Amino acid sequence: MSKCKTSPEVGGMGHSVKRKEDPRFIRGQGNYVDDVVRPGMVYMDIVRSPYAHAKIKSINTEKALAHPGVAAVITGETLKEYNLHNMPTLMSDTQMVLPIDKVCYQAQEVAAVVATDRYSAADGVELVEVEYEPLPVVVDPHKATDPDAPIIRDDKEGQDSNHIFHWEAGDKSGTDEVFNNAEVVVAEDIYIPRIHVASIETCGCVSEFNKVSGQLTVWLTTQAPHAIRTVVALVAGHVGLQEDKIRIISPDIGGGFGGKVPVYPGYVIAIAASVVTGLPIKWIEDRRENLQADSFARDYHMTCEIAADKDGTLNALRIKTLADHGYADAAANPSKFPAGMFSICTGSYDFKNAFVEVDGVYTNKPPGGIAYRCSFRVTEAVHAIERMVDVVADEVGLDAAEIRMKNFIPKDAFPYHSPTGWEYDSGDYHGALKLAMDKIGYDELLKEQAEKREKGELMGIGISSFTEVVGAGPSKDFDILGIKMFDSSEIRIHPTGKVTARFGTKSQGQGHETTYGQIIAEELGIPHSDVTVEEGDTDTAPYGLGTYASRSTPTAGAAAAMACRKIKEKSKKIAAHLLEVSEEDLDWEVGKFSVKGLPDKAVTIQEIAFAAYTNHPQGLEAGLEATHYYDPPNMTYPFGSYIAVVDIDSGTGNVKIRRFVAVDDCGNIINPMIVEGQIHGGLTQGMAPALFEEISYDDQGNITGGSFMEYLVPTAVETPHWETDKTVTPSPHHPLGAKGVGESPTVGAPPAIVNAIVDALSHLGVRHIDIPVTPEKVWRAMQKTEAA
Ligand code: CDP
Repeated sequence: MSKCKTSPEVGGMGHSVKRKEDPRFIRGQGNYVDDVVRPGMVYMDIVRSPYAHAKIKSINTEKALAHPGVAAVITGETLKEYNLHNMPTLMSDTQMVLPIDKVCYQAQEVAAVVATDRYSAADGVELVEVEYEPLPVVVDPHKATDPDAPIIRDDKEGQDSNHIFHWEAGDKSGTDEVFNNAEVVVAEDIYIPRIHVASIETCGCVSEFNKVSGQLTVWLTTQAPHAIRTVVALVAGHVGLQEDKIRIISPDIGGGFGGKVPVYPGYVIAIAASVVTGLPIKWIEDRRENLQADSFARDYHMTCEIAADKDGTLNALRIKTLADHGYADAAANPSKFPAGMFSICTGSYDFKNAFVEVDGVYTNKPPGGIAYRCSFRVTEAVHAIERMVDVVADEVGLDAAEIRMKNFIPKDAFPYHSPTGWEYDSGDYHGALKLAMDKIGYDELLKEQAEKREKGELMGIGISSFTEVVGAGPSKDFDILGIKMFDSSEIRIHPTGKVTARFGTKSQGQGHETTYGQIIAEELGIPHSDVTVEEGDTDTAPYGLGTYASRSTPTAGAAAAMACRKIKEKSKKIAAHLLEVSEEDLDWEVGKFSVKGLPDKAVTIQEIAFAAYTNHPQGLEAGLEATHYYDPPNMTYPFGSYIAVVDIDSGTGNVKIRRFVAVDDCGNIINPMIVEGQIHGGLTQGMAPALFEEISYDDQGNITGGSFMEYLVPTAVETPHWETDKTVTPSPHHPLGAKGVGESPTVGAPPAIVNAIVDALSHLGVRHIDIPVTPEKVWRAMQKTEAA
């Protein structure tokens, strides 16, 4: 048994000494949660566990409460009185808000201190004494289901192991048969480690409860305000917080990338604290808390196999995966897909057979499984298939481009039905790869590589020809906590022709104000400068599931077009009335209706808008507005071909990306400059896990990489010049022919880089290196092959 105060190594550490450098104390200049100030506002800070698994023997709050600035200390017992100590996760699992009797991961929330200022709250955290009794820890997911493994979720009835779910897709027996008769079988264990989104802005909220009106207003760093409002109502409805009295405002967000989709305990504690104390409460995580305790991404252990012919024809794919979800399944996958869209792993290739299975397990780590700039596990799927295609190429002696061209789904095979159940809407994979090869000068690079090999120099060329699946999603298959994954647009044209347009999505820097405004401008002929786009306030925006997984354009972008078309329908009736002709006699030309054959006899959309409020036809409702909840008929399937060229220092193993060409296809593009920006940022975020980023744990569950000293996010220095290009293959079912794009580069970049590194070393016998491919790993791989 040990007695300790909060460890100096975990979040919530050493505030009193560190406060001058702590980013929380630098006021922002924008419209961020940390800029929100309410009258009488107090501050909250959190006591966190130094242990990964431990009983809580006692929590002594006396010294903290004696601090003159401390107003309250909230523990699990406080919340239990209101039955708020547990909450549901978005995956229908449960998660502690504050613990009653044990903690299950390092940096878990143990208690919260509310104080008049940030410094006192931080000092109060130091003064809370917690007595722990360490329990055995499960860190390795492969050992999580061993018979002697401690049961982490003994709070869950019937949970007698650390197994969470088994999920599978495809035809097992058909696939096994192909493997049994295959000419060539290759296999590789591929691990994608835990990484963190590491947004510039950490998570936080300001929660204000009005005891008189019963209204709760929460300014929150969330990508999904409506979903959060519903979760708060479900969790706290029994204490009187009903959904119509809850207002979630998501102001500017300093990076979301999937990490701001989950509901974090800190939010719920702050809300509870504001209800209990009647005071507005501000809680903002510091950098370490954010890196150590918020939800993580990836952590997939995959055993991948491909059955092929000797000529390189790919026949069957089999992948068995162990998914480390940490202490709770707090991912935000659609309910039907506990492993997200992972079964898209047959990628751009015409496999006839595939079988994929995933087992999720609990371990003593923070909750994991979020979709970090990724449409729910597509990054893992693309990494697996793009690495494995290279492994087959190596086995049968084909070039990486040749094997891809040979096995791509042909252009005329769309809509294409994959063996794991997806219907790809459109694609031209040969075209994208050909363009990338021409742009980079593929044949010359092969010659150069051969010459360099002669001289003992290490140069590699890596290809990734990925297919994405974005735009969740069709209501028949996609929901989160039962809420269907449509999205919405409400467009109001005011009498003077100006527009307020509101959406259920929430931009975090993707430029929705620009692109949604453009859609409306193009559909209705109203200047972009006359359109105000609003998102993120549940009191005003129509209900929607938010922005993540590149879903905004496929869902809310489509909703905007559909709402505009409804408005156009009504406008036509008003125009007919104004021009005294029948509707059939009218032509639409962007921005106005004119009488067929008489182009000068016309009314503009602005004149129509004025008439909608001043001179509308009798029998027609006044006003000019429309709302559309768009239920997409299918997902969209953006794709691309990326080629990386790397040079490796054979003395140090250091990798330099010399060139990187990215050819993307996201269907019709709304705004080329925004798409270009999305691709540049995404490529950098794809390079990061390929080369630098990883969070790991020692065998006691202590985090390594819990600060930016060890968690190496890339800077401009490491980032190469990205060369981009595009092909355009419209989506046949999206009203604008557009597909999502935000995540394609994060998904496509890692395998291109790793394939290039492995290619540089392939003649030495190297076939695979797990990410992040650090200089040390490269150097060790070279030593191993030399020794062999
Ligand atoms: O959901 P999220 O906004 O992250 O992803 P997205 O739908 O891929 O859109 C990212 C940004 O790129 C938005 O501003 C889109 O409107 C824009 N975009 C575009 O201009 N054309 C496309 N075909 C796809 C996205």
